[in-house]
Parts: sequence; structure tokens; C-alpha cells
Amino acid sequence: MRLHIVEDYQEMSKKAATIVASQVTLKPESVLGLATGSTPLGMYRNLVQMYRDDIIDLSEVVTFNLDEYLGLGPEHPQSYHHYMHKNFFNQVNIPEDNIHLPQGNSENIEQVCREYDRKIARYKGIDLQVLGIGVNGHIGFNEPDNKLKTATHQVRLTEDTIKANSRFFSSEEEVPRRAVSMGMGSIMQARMILLLASGKQKALAIKNSISGEITTEVPASLLQLHPEVITIVDREAAMYID
Ligand code: PGA
Repeated sequence: MRLHIVEDYQEMSKKAATIVASQVTLKPESVLGLATGSTPLGMYRNLVQMYRDDIIDLSEVVTFNLDEYLGLGPEHPQSYHHYMHKNFFNQVNIPEDNIHLPQGNSENIEQVCREYDRKIARYKGIDLQVLGIGVNGHIGFNEPDNKLKTATHQVRLTEDTIKANSRFFSSEEEVPRRAVSMGMGSIMQARMILLLASGKQKALAIKNSISGEITTEVPASLLQLHPEVITIVDREAAMYID
């Protein structure tokens, strides 16, 4: 694992965008695994700017997002479909057909999950997977448990996650209790992983993930087994790293 400790959120975001831009420059038809939440917002802003400045062209890029809330349609302002279009897709030139997110409001979620994995396989997997990390060490919505799933699946969100994500909703009750998440298989099979964390609330999860024991109770700790992980954390998120 390559670890970069940077000063702050801005520096983390810039470095992350530079790595994504390098990937896309080296392989224009890259398959990117993308994340939502507060962490990658600055990275998306930097990438949008690079696109406007003609530094990157995303016209051949294919994307697969990590997750989506169950029951929220693409137009719902808190859905990850909405987040991704507002913060990134609507501002760059990735063709709509190349964009993939799990459909959270489908009648048949099992079929959505199987189809999502089939599509990832059809593109021969993910070249670069961007990950945030939950305060409980989750990646995507792969929550701490005594077992983890390989394939895309339905999940029940933990209380920690519901509480953490309630800041995006008007009340905690409104946070969907269930979601669809890419499984650990697609994440671990990504050829490269970019793990980002900012702020002291992530410090313990980062310490446990990069130097703690490998356990399904800290899903991000499994990344220690991956050969190509770049971790970028700011000073606060790095405060417990020895
Ligand atoms: P955050 O979420 O970026 O909003 O902190 C990260 C995550 O839960 O994976």
C-alpha cells in the first residue's frame, strides 16, 4: 500500500484528481469505479476543472458507482444518481451510456444486482476504484459483519452509517435503511484502488484499516491484501497512524 499523508482536504482532492487524470490519460477507455459522499466531492471539482481546461478527455471512460439507496429513484435529490449527475457527470463528457449505477427503485433488486455484476464483467472489471471510508470502516456499503459478500447485493445499513448519512437528509428517520452495494469481489478485483479519507472522525477507521488486523468487522482492512492501493489521507485522518 502506498500511503500519502497530505496537509488537508484540498490537497487530498487535488492529488486524487491527478491520479484519476493520469489513469484516464494512460488509458482513455478506463473503467472507473466511483464513490459518493463528502470525501470525493473535491476530487470531482478538480476533475471538472481539468476537463474545462482541456487537460483531460473523458469521452471513452466507463463508470460504475459503488452503491445506491434502496427505494430512491434517480430523480430523488438524495439518491446517488442525482449526486453523481449534479457533481460530476453533467459537467464532463462521459457518454450517458457509459455511466452505471445500481437502480435503487427497481421492482427486482436481485436482478439489478446480477445484471450489475454481469456488466462489470463484460467490461473486464474496474481499472481504478475510488473509495471513501465509513467511520465504521465500511467501503461502498459493505458494512462491518462476521461475513462479507463478494457480489453486488442488498444491505441493511448499520446505525453508525444511518447516523453519519443523516446530515444529507432533513432527519435521521428519512435515511433509507437499505441500499444496494457492489460487493467486496468487484472492489478487490479492481486493478488499482484509491482510498481517500479526510478529518479526525475517520482517523480510527484509517488506522484499523491500514495497520489493524484483517477482519470483516473492518471491511476496509481487507484492502491490505490488495497489491495496488494508493491511500491519500489528510493530517487529521492520519492522526493515529504510527
Ligand atoms: P463520506 O462517506 O465521504 O460522506 O464521509 C464515506 C463513506 O461512507 O464511505
